[in-house]
Amino acid sequence: MCGIIGYIGHQQVQNILIDGLHRLEYRGYDSAGIAVLEGGEIGLRKKAGRVQELGQLVSEQPLQGSMGIGHTRWATHGEVNDANSHPHLGGDGEVCLVHNGVIENYSKLRKALQAKGYEFHTATDSEVIAHLLAFEVKRLKEDGDSEGQALYVNAIQSTLVQLKGTYGLAVLFEDCPDKLFVARVGSPLVIGIGENEHFVASDASPLAGHTDEVVYLSDNEIAILSAGDLQIIHRDAGAVNPKIEVLDQQAADSELGDFPHYMLKEIFEQPQTIENAMRGRFNDDEATAVFGGLNLTAQQLRRIDRVVLTACGTSWHAGLVGEYLLEEFARIPTEVEYASELRYRNPPMSENTMIFAITQSGETADTLAAMRECKRKGHPTLAICNTVGSTIAREADGGIYLHAGPEIGVASTKAFTSQVTVLTLLALFFGRMRHLSYPAGSRIISHLREIPELVEQALKCNEMCKYVADKYYNSNNFLYLGRLYNFPVALEGALKLKEISYIHAEGYPAAEMKHGPIALVDEQTPSVFVVPRCGIYPKVISNLEEVKARKGPVIAIACQGDDKIAELADDVIFVPDVEEYLQPLIASIPLQLLSYHIAVLRGCNVDRPRNLAKSVTVE
Ligand code: G6P
Repeated sequence: MCGIIGYIGHQQVQNILIDGLHRLEYRGYDSAGIAVLEGGEIGLRKKAGRVQELGQLVSEQPLQGSMGIGHTRWATHGEVNDANSHPHLGGDGEVCLVHNGVIENYSKLRKALQAKGYEFHTATDSEVIAHLLAFEVKRLKEDGDSEGQALYVNAIQSTLVQLKGTYGLAVLFEDCPDKLFVARVGSPLVIGIGENEHFVASDASPLAGHTDEVVYLSDNEIAILSAGDLQIIHRDAGAVNPKIEVLDQQAADSELGDFPHYMLKEIFEQPQTIENAMRGRFNDDEATAVFGGLNLTAQQLRRIDRVVLTACGTSWHAGLVGEYLLEEFARIPTEVEYASELRYRNPPMSENTMIFAITQSGETADTLAAMRECKRKGHPTLAICNTVGSTIAREADGGIYLHAGPEIGVASTKAFTSQVTVLTLLALFFGRMRHLSYPAGSRIISHLREIPELVEQALKCNEMCKYVADKYYNSNNFLYLGRLYNFPVALEGALKLKEISYIHAEGYPAAEMKHGPIALVDEQTPSVFVVPRCGIYPKVISNLEEVKARKGPVIAIACQGDDKIAELADDVIFVPDVEEYLQPLIASIPLQLLSYHIAVLRGCNVDRPRNLAKSVTVE
């Protein structure tokens, strides 16, 4: 949520900042701004609207200088307007900062600062930090006890101890023209090390192409960046040696190529990303899966008697598929918990309960908090995560990377199928440690190996999805219905539609529909039935008939060769036939495509849907 970029070095900074903001825009996109420090003066350009509009502004009113900060905003406090856009100035303009996070005690701090004569020009919580910094610098200068870098570090430290909440900060001081200060608690920051230059950003995407050496800042650390030097100070531990890691990301990974939208590109990447999630993870001799990073012994793994999967949004839906898989194949009691609930709930957990935090970004605030809470109670906590070096990936005891590459479209697609793939491998892994036979394990492996090719075939339904979208895109409500493994698929299909087309959609277990949603059925409300062939196919068909009996239009997602469905449904989108437990990997493809085409037809911004952000780093 919100994207931060900063640079100090030998190059002109303006275009580096604007380019970085473009690459961070998926984190928040209601307004954007940059500040450049040159010749002891801070030049500021900021604007409500997209980074493109800011780019236009700075091309008309350029800023010269080789150090600066930038921000793309997802509003938390204060409406979306030019004034509330970052960067914010403190004091009489001698401090300038960008902030990602939420300051919970801002109102009290604001009153105290106003009483001291500080004038506020915005409704944001962030401006409080800027004024507080200005106040602390002034106070320390008057005390005369410190000077130079130490003075600014002291001012930052004494400011931070007054803040309650979360922050990723990048700060410029007018009187300190050769240093850029950054700090974090709860909001991610990664520092890029170049040749006589340093970068800072909310995630690694803007650094790719500039450098492949990065340092992930940890909570309670302050970093002092100059062109040729990087120092890190921890609140309690003092100076720490920066741990330099190699960034395995190319600028091209985040490029759109020939696709009109990132979402469509990412949908079509799925044969490859699913393949990547499985690569090197099969052990044919033992008919099981292998994972390099669980960091637990076989004995510890065998002792696990309960699994809790915790996640938000689409990742939670993947978790629900995981619950079904782990219970069916490994016979381990499994629960998928909303991270926002789990962090404050106190469910009983046996000593041998294992926690998996499932997350694309690795930065979702609630998922991180839920994971920390479980870790604090002594449970092994592992991450199923896409973003290498993210906070959750680093704080977990171990984990499994998805290797899906950067996901830029705000609505998650390829990360979902990769998460489901990894969870299937996990079910195989735990299953083979317990009740699953060698032949059963081998069968799962051979079925999984076919999936990338079957997803490729499923993508051929794109034209049909476009046709169906064209027929129904003006509807105000949709129902998504499925049973067993296709219930999470129905939930995910409904979420995709809501997210990007702003149509109200509900996902439900098909039979449960009779207990409420059936009241919504009328000639204008399409029901999407996810009904590939399965053990309870006739039951789902009965549910479908119930909708037809009430004149509700029915769109069916069904297996190729299912002639019966064609007689019942108004429209059928056919996908390849697979084993029931693998259907989420196939059946979610047409639902992603359907939402995509509906959103395009409604003129919605598919990759940047209103009010949403890709990485939700606030509670
Ligand atoms: C946001 C995104 C969703 C995502 C959810 C969880 O709401 O828009 O696409 O599923 O966060 O994110 P995570 O990165 O933890 O998977």
